[in-house]
Amino acid sequence: MNLPPETLFLDDANSALVILDQSLLPTEVKYIHLTALEQVYNAIKELKVRGAPAIGVAAAMGLYIHMKGFFRPDETDAATFMAEMERASVYLASSRPTAVNLRWALQKMIHAVKSCKAGGASELLNKLRKSCEQIKTDDIEANKQIGKYGAALLKPGMGILTHCNAGALATAGYGTALAPIYTAHENGMLLRVYADETRPVLQGARLTAFELQHAGVDVTLICDNMAATVMANGWVDAVFVGCDRVAANGDTANKVGTHGVAILAKRFGIPFYVCAPLSTIDKDTPAGADIVIEERDPAEVTEMFYAQRMAPEGIKVFNPSFDVTPAELITAFITEKDILYPPF
Ligand code: MRU
Repeated sequence: MNLPPETLFLDDANSALVILDQSLLPTEVKYIHLTALEQVYNAIKELKVRGAPAIGVAAAMGLYIHMKGFFRPDETDAATFMAEMERASVYLASSRPTAVNLRWALQKMIHAVKSCKAGGASELLNKLRKSCEQIKTDDIEANKQIGKYGAALLKPGMGILTHCNAGALATAGYGTALAPIYTAHENGMLLRVYADETRPVLQGARLTAFELQHAGVDVTLICDNMAATVMANGWVDAVFVGCDRVAANGDTANKVGTHGVAILAKRFGIPFYVCAPLSTIDKDTPAGADIVIEERDPAEVTEMFYAQRMAPEGIKVFNPSFDVTPAELITAFITEKDILYPPF
């Protein structure tokens, strides 16, 4: 099976975080080298790297690259190193507010350094490099486990609907919502996938369609407002989506439009599965109403991807990037440890 080009990797020799620029997909496969903290911040904010787990790994690797540049042998002591690392983490964490994996990965980096007993700043730097590589390895491993658990729910010929892109491109590799589909495909099970285009920035049309087609999976692209039609036609047996943050009560933030799909799934009696590594569960956020929802540039709705502006100049635009699906609409969470059924 052909997975899509690698999402991101560390080029330590050139002190760079290398990312696949997802804003150019599917027409151009181009890697860019990020060597400065501001470049990493902007790449996350501008969705060049996106998807909750992927931005966590990007931030961790970006933090390491920054600290490598900051570190001066014989000059930087451990306290100065720590202070700069905390400052840079706060800055990177502010690039996008909703996905908890971003904050989680940065906290993991800080914890790794704090728990490092021996030595000075050079040991701390070494620890940071190992930690960010480990976060990436662990993410891929978790996704493969999600794939295994999720694939056990599938049967040959089933139709799966997915929203946004929670595939290999949204993670360090293999994906979350697409992982069960990849595992089933690797085992020779033929499925049909319906990919919502996912307005406004079309992660479904540009990314999910790209990566599933690349892998040889039977994928059909639909506009967001066609989900009820394919469900009413009896073509959808299950919905698989990813998520950006699960609150302690099970309410789940994911790309805007997910809530509507969940309501439709309930109406048509279709199971609605949320696939996520445990790092996406945020026990510090009690309920969905406490999740900060990112609002993005109105131009994403009125101009982006159109040959010319298609909405009136000056029109008011509401452009939330995520919505919250109440726990009661979720059939189960598929994690790397188990499938979690209610009560959550
Ligand atoms: O704005 P994006 O493209 O970062 O939104 C991505 C999603 O909503 C994904 O479904 C979510 O991050 C899970 S990715 C495994």
